Amino acid sequence: MDAFNIRSLSGLKLRTLKLAVVVIVLICTILLLRPFTETAQTAILCLKQSHPDLEPEAVPKAVPVLKNNTTVLANPQLVQMTVDWRKFAYVQYATVPDYLCNSVLIFASLNETDSKADRVLLYPQTWSADVSRSNSVETRLLAIARDEYRVILKPIKVQRKNSADSTWAEGYTKLLAWNQTEYERVLHLDSDANLMQSMDELFLLPPSPMAAARAYWLDAKDRVRSSQLMLIQPSEFEFNRVMKAIDTAGKNEYDMEVINTLYGDSCIVLPHRPYNLLSGEFKSKPSNHAKYLGSSEEVWDGEKIMNEAKYLHFSDWPVPKPWIRVQDSILAENQPKCWEKEGSSDKDCSDQKIWRNLYSDFARRRKDICGLGYQ
Ligand SMILES: *[C@@H]1O[C@H](CO)[C@@H](O)[C@H](O)[C@H]1NC(C)=O
Ligand SMILES: *[C@@H]1O[C@H](CO)[C@@H](O)[C@H](O)[C@H]1NC(C)=O
Ligand SMILES: *[C@@H]1O[C@H](CO)[C@@H](O)[C@H](O)[C@H]1NC(C)=O
Ligand SMILES: *[C@@H]1O[C@H](CO)[C@@H](O)[C@H](O)[C@H]1NC(C)=O
Repeated sequence: MDAFNIRSLSGLKLRTLKLAVVVIVLICTILLLRPFTETAQTAILCLKQSHPDLEPEAVPKAVPVLKNNTTVLANPQLVQMTVDWRKFAYVQYATVPDYLCNSVLIFASLNETDSKADRVLLYPQTWSADVSRSNSVETRLLAIARDEYRVILKPIKVQRKNSADSTWAEGYTKLLAWNQTEYERVLHLDSDANLMQSMDELFLLPPSPMAAARAYWLDAKDRVRSSQLMLIQPSEFEFNRVMKAIDTAGKNEYDMEVINTLYGDSCIVLPHRPYNLLSGEFKSKPSNHAKYLGSSEEVWDGEKIMNEAKYLHFSDWPVPKPWIRVQDSILAENQPKCWEKEGSSDKDCSDQKIWRNLYSDFARRRKDICGLGYQ
């Protein structure tokens, strides 16, 4: 009897306990789920923002939901809405008419890709941008840049160093990018190149006096930064350092050496893929692209590389730069080969086709955009 009572009593207690546990778990679940539903709503809104075609009105409505900048920065479209792009500029410099046309082509690409940042062109103060006073090629191109591609024109004194030879010496002028102190950040791009995609996102990197890609075609151990593409924070202090470094530079030291001396050990290293591709890359054997690809495992796919690349620099020695007239035999001798396809007698000429198109597209754009004198 005693034993029975104890058993039924403990059975009753156990049932109450079970019920209590279920109730508590239920309450906890409800409490826990509340923030999750908020998060889920935010996630759905974010999803809509990255696919604006789904529901265009979703973006403005969603703004108050966002509580801090982390969320804003993680969302490309909101960044577009909140960033003051006038603080940033693509800077080009031109010292001769051929390079002026190259710069105009870069600005045309920026316009085509709908880049948001300012566009600045540094040009010799001896040129005139006034079409009513001069009908020179330079004047016409300066006017095109200003009127059709919203380029801000800035006359400058070309920087030269007496000891250096003239082609390289004017490369020092690119260091005037540091003097554009009305901007928080400027992006210098060498103009003997194709710009395939906007690079506006680079302006939003964490602060650093310099960001540049590695000269990937050189030995990685030497850690050489390329000066073809430089993201710079202009400042009087840094400008003076750069000018001083130029003055004391040795006979064979040019802009690349100067920036490596000053910033090589402390800068943001941009991925050369997709920010800094050389046209000559297409001439290497399919098995010989590890330096660009970043690994020897990845299979080379020239078309994929072209599609992802944002900037391509013409570098194909002994083939001259693409605006210089050249006999077709020189191109034919130096173009990429048609490679043997693995396990078949077929040839793969896709790299050759891509490379040939680089040169023919450049010539076509030059003629279409720069016009008379650049056929
Ligand atoms: C901003 O929001 C993120 C994600 O919700 C959070 O992790 C972070 O702590 C927040 N930062 C501030 C400063 O409130
Ligand atoms: C974050 O947002 C606040 C308010 O809009 C703004 O004042 C602040 O500058 C922002 N910070 C960053 C790092 O963007
Ligand atoms: C430059 O871009 C603007 C804005 O997209 C466009 O209206 C204009 O026609 C473009 N200029 C040229 C010359 O294509
Ligand atoms: C640097 O910029 C300042 C202010 O715009 C200008 O007065 C000066 O001439 C520039 N220096 C050079 C070397 O171009």
